[in-house]
Parts: sequence; C-alpha cells; structure tokens
Amino acid sequence: MTHRIAIIAGDGIGTEVMPEGIRALEATAKRFNIDLEFTHFEFGSCDYYLEHGKMLPDDWFEQLKGFDALFYGAVGWPDKVPDHISLWGSLLQFRRRFDQYINLRPCKLMPGIKSPLAGREPGDIDFYVVRENTEGEYSSVGGKMFEGTDREVVIQDTVMTRTGVDRVLKYAFELAQTRPRKKLTSATKSNGISITMPYWDERVVEMAKGYPEIAVDKFHIDILTANFVLHPDWFDVVVGSNLFGDILSDLGPACTGTIGIAPSANINPEGNFPSLFEPVHGSAPDIAGKGIANPIGQIWSGAMMLEHLGYKEAGDAIVTAIEEVLSEGDATVLTRDVGGEGTTASLGKAIADHINA
Ligand code: NAI
Ligand code: MG
Repeated sequence: MTHRIAIIAGDGIGTEVMPEGIRALEATAKRFNIDLEFTHFEFGSCDYYLEHGKMLPDDWFEQLKGFDALFYGAVGWPDKVPDHISLWGSLLQFRRRFDQYINLRPCKLMPGIKSPLAGREPGDIDFYVVRENTEGEYSSVGGKMFEGTDREVVIQDTVMTRTGVDRVLKYAFELAQTRPRKKLTSATKSNGISITMPYWDERVVEMAKGYPEIAVDKFHIDILTANFVLHPDWFDVVVGSNLFGDILSDLGPACTGTIGIAPSANINPEGNFPSLFEPVHGSAPDIAGKGIANPIGQIWSGAMMLEHLGYKEAGDAIVTAIEEVLSEGDATVLTRDVGGEGTTASLGKAIADHINA
C-alpha cells in the first residue's frame, strides 16, 4: 500500500529542515518496509504569494484532499508578507477545510536538553497536550455595534457543540488508553466561565464512563498553567478547549527546552481528510539561510505522521534515534540551539544514520 505524502516546505528554515525530515522518513520507510511517495508543492509560501498574489492556488483543496498526509515546514516572512495573510491564507485554511479538529503536541524532556525548569531530568516531563482545534472560544459569532460612539459594544461568543466537545474528549481518552499511566487531565474554568465550561466538565464526566480504567482529574486553567511549571511530572494526557489548549500547547513544549525540537500534528482522526504534521517553530528569519536550524522538530513531526498512518513502531524508532543522538552529545553534530556547532544537515544525517543502524 502506497502512502501519498504532500510536502509543503514553506518559508525560511522550513525549506532547510524539510530535507532532513524527508531523509529520516526515507530511512525509516526503508527499515520498516513502508511505501511512502512524496509530492512537492511550491504553494503555501511567501514567494508563491509574491508571484501569484495569493498563498494557495484556487484548486488547492482538490489538489490536496486525496493525499494521506500533509508534511509542512513553516510559513511566514513578515518583511515580505504580513503574518495574518501568510498564516490565514495557508495553514489555517488546511486546518479548517480538512476538519483537523485535534491539535496534538507531545511535551517530552529529551536527553541532553536543558529544561528551563530547575532540576528536571528526562523522564520527569512526558505528556501530551490535546487541543480542540475548530470551535470553542475561536468563533466567528459576535459583532460590533455603535462603533466609535460612547455606546460602542463588542461581543464574541464561545461556541461549544456536543459533537465538537465529545470528539476531542474521545480522542484524548483513547490516547490516554495507549499510555502506561492512563491518566487524563481536563482544563476548565467553570468557576468563572459559568455556562460553557460547566458543559465541558459535564461532557468529560459522561465520556469518562466509557473509560473506567483512565484516572481523570481537572484543574482550572489558571492553576493548571502554574502546575505545568511546578509539577510537570503530574501530567500524562491534558485536554483543553481551543483557547486553553492553545495556551497549554505553547507552555508545555516550552517547559521541555528549545523550540527547535518540538513537533505538532493537526489531525482529522477519521481520515476523511489528510492530517497535517509540522514543527512548532516558525520560519525563523533571524537564522534562515545559514544552515544552522535544528531539524528535530521537523523530523519528530514525521514520526507523528508515521504513527498516524498506522506505523507506531516506525514512529517510535525515529524518536529513539533522536534521543540517542541527543544523549551522545557530539558537539560537531548538534546544532547551536542545543549547545553544538554542527549544521542542520549534520544533525539530520546523524539521526538518519541511527535509524538505519
Ligand atoms: P520562530 O519560531 O520562527 O522563531 C523564534 C525563535 O526561535 C527565533 O530566534 C529562531 O531563530 C528560533 N528558532 C525557531 N526554530 C528554530 C530551529 N529549528 N532551530 C533553532 N532555532 C530556532 O517564531 P517567530 O520569529 O515569531 O516567527 C517567524 C515567522 O514564522 C513569522 O512569519 C511567523 O508568523 C511564522 N510562524 C509560523 C508558524 C507555522 O508555520 N506554524 C509558527 C510560528 C511562527
Ligand atoms: Mg499558539
């Protein structure tokens, strides 16, 4: 069975880390006998925008919908194209039209990476943040009235549907089910947001009935963010609405060190549409063109993609190779953000070699 992967490298270091992401995927595909077919696209980048006046061609949906997954680099080059245009015109279109209602980010402290949290070792931090990615607080229901007058009023409503809440909770419970600790934490704020958040809590209780082996707890978002910093070892799978998940999915990876290694996935679990896998970082104009970007975020995103396609063992092999290379700590191999003097290519090659070994 051939898996068709659409490659969109995007801008800046996206174009530099992508070849290393592909190198790792090719090594893994060979070792595990997986048939991957890559198709490269120029669109979804600021250069495409400057040439065509838009980020994507009109028929992008038709062009991409038949792929098994999208492998994305990073989009954005603020000196050429304003960020709201480059981001809304590409990535956010994919997330919406392909109903990628799960945003998934592993938060795992890797060997050789210094956590900004004092005294934390690999093994202390190893959890997932599951964010609802389509509704909630990020709704377009609302408006402005009496603009520019003393009566000026702005309203933006939170939208939670039973379908939308239940499907993200179900995904999070299923994920917790696959983990040794079998623990799920829900982010809430039902003391202050008195309609939608109690509803969210209710649906958590209801969903939990179907997963008696999962230990469930919940925290209000304010103390939850504090606990990410104070007690990151408490967490296994953390699920939140769009806004709370957004905050937690930046804070979680930040607790594990450099932004250069964090991966993420935007998932349509039913597979009605392709899911999208990308590093957390952006196009990093400050270091672009120097060949020094850390490729691990891209490579690890590829591991998440393989797992999504049904090859958990292959995905795990990539993560293990990353861990091995980081713990060897060879300064000639590692990039600067993790204390080395190597290049994007030297680090990418070392990881691919470990996958092959
Ligand atoms: P950024 O993530 O591109 O860079 C933030 C800082 O982290 C910079 O100092 C950069 O050098 C460093 N950094 C990032 N990735 C690295 C890597 N792989 N290795 C070593 N260092 C790395 O965020 P910034 O500067 O706020 O945004 C730059 C552009 O990227 C903007 O146009 C923004 O809209 C876009 N962006 C796109 C994202 C995406 O495609 N999903 C996500 C975040 C930002
Ligand atoms: Mg964010």
